[in-house]
Amino acid sequence: MPAPRLPQATLARAVPRSTAVLIAGFGPAGVVGVPDQVATGYKKTFGVRPDEMARSMGASAKSLATTVLPPSARTTLVLVGLGDKPVDQLTDEELRAAAGAGARAASGMELSDAAIAVGFGRSEPGAVRAITEGALLGTYSFRAVTTGDPAEPGIGSITVISRSTGKQQLAAVEAAEVVAAAVVANRDWVNQPANLLYPETFADDVRGYAGDARHKISVEVLDAAALTKGGYGGILAVGGGSAKPPRLVRLSYAPRGAKFHLALVGKGITFDSGGLDIKTPQGMYTMKSDMSGAAAVFAATRAIADLGFKIKVTTYGALAENMPSGSAWRPSDVLTTYGGKTVENINSDAEGRIVMADALARASAEDEPDLIIDVATLTGAAVVALGERTGALFSNTEETAGKVLAAAAAAGERFWQLPIAEEARGFLDSEVADLRSGKTGGGGGASTAAAFLREFVAGVPWAHLDVAGPAFNNNSPYGYVSSGGTGMAVRTLVTLAETLAG
Ligand code: BES
Ligand code: MN
Ligand code: ZN
Repeated sequence: MPAPRLPQATLARAVPRSTAVLIAGFGPAGVVGVPDQVATGYKKTFGVRPDEMARSMGASAKSLATTVLPPSARTTLVLVGLGDKPVDQLTDEELRAAAGAGARAASGMELSDAAIAVGFGRSEPGAVRAITEGALLGTYSFRAVTTGDPAEPGIGSITVISRSTGKQQLAAVEAAEVVAAAVVANRDWVNQPANLLYPETFADDVRGYAGDARHKISVEVLDAAALTKGGYGGILAVGGGSAKPPRLVRLSYAPRGAKFHLALVGKGITFDSGGLDIKTPQGMYTMKSDMSGAAAVFAATRAIADLGFKIKVTTYGALAENMPSGSAWRPSDVLTTYGGKTVENINSDAEGRIVMADALARASAEDEPDLIIDVATLTGAAVVALGERTGALFSNTEETAGKVLAAAAAAGERFWQLPIAEEARGFLDSEVADLRSGKTGGGGGASTAAAFLREFVAGVPWAHLDVAGPAFNNNSPYGYVSSGGTGMAVRTLVTLAETLAG
């Protein structure tokens, strides 16, 4: 897969002459973010300033609605509705969404290699960071596998307009570029169909991707033979039904002077058919996205290394394809997971927790991390509980939950803590093995799954992010979120690592 193409981002006080599209805001006070220089030029052309033009055209202040004003000189003005709050009260996430909606509108204008600019009259570093991230992410669309001309170059560069262009603002733009590149890497992996992205090709891709980081990341890939030798009975069982053998990918970023060791673990089911407990056609269609968690932890690790955070990070992606066949694992099979715990399979569609068990067991037993975070599209129950835009957070310590929620809030991703029910451990008692992988019937499936994972972290502080809903957007794009893969959890992980690095 070619490296994802993102526009170049720069910071400036004035709108460059070559700007094809200027994205600004339209809020309760009218137009915001159009520098005087542009407004004056506008008045020369049309006899009215952009604000008057917008009002006479009935521009909408409805949050994220876009209005295109006629171009003056070579610059088209795109106004993004900012809702009913004054612009200085908008949160970073609201600015990120507004910049994303504007950038998407500009991308839809089929400009070739165009320069766009964006500003809402906000210049604090956090605002600049959010606007840059939003604008970059808003330009994203997946380059589908098609014949004919290669995709148009689209947006070539984005200038973020800020009254202040000091060190902090420049650093904000740079960080935003790194983070946006990571989010886009996640989206591209998730959107790649499963006949092209399977454990072997995914692992190969990650090797190249992690190898390109600014600061060294070492990569280790365990193939089926190595998994057999190492006793990874969970990943092998789940992957056993597929003609495409499984992999376990391990990344290590170990900068000098790091005082904290973070382990990341991601679910990497490249396609989840449900196995012998086969899904319905409707339930199966989007299951190329069942490797979103692995894509999130790989991308976050690269961003952390590119940003040079002084924190040790060990990352696992457990990659397998869950398919029905003569060699598939069966309901009622007993598997021996990494480290020796035996598990009775209650349902071959509950495959995520099984591959995660091996990776969590290895991380907790071998790497001595201070904290483990896992990311997985684990349960439909999490979607029932929280909908499609909020991830579920589970943890074995309240302090860890607090840290992750704080990082998510700062990064602009929505997570909500759910409890691991006290009774959940009892559901996992098996007559034939150390554990069974879940229970049949009843509610609380996301909590039961979390209780199962908890058995494999050996008491290490741990949080589990169930992103079954928000990892993949089945609907139209909104804000900076495209259709398909979203990048969910990448920004939370990067922000968390930054905080933990101190
Ligand atoms: N990958 C699915 C969970 C999922 C569902 C992700 C919808 C995204 C959207 C997972 O492997 C699964 O099938 N879970 C089962 C577990 C059950 C069999 C215990 C589920 O949630 O139904
Ligand atoms: Mn499944
Ligand atoms: Zn799955």
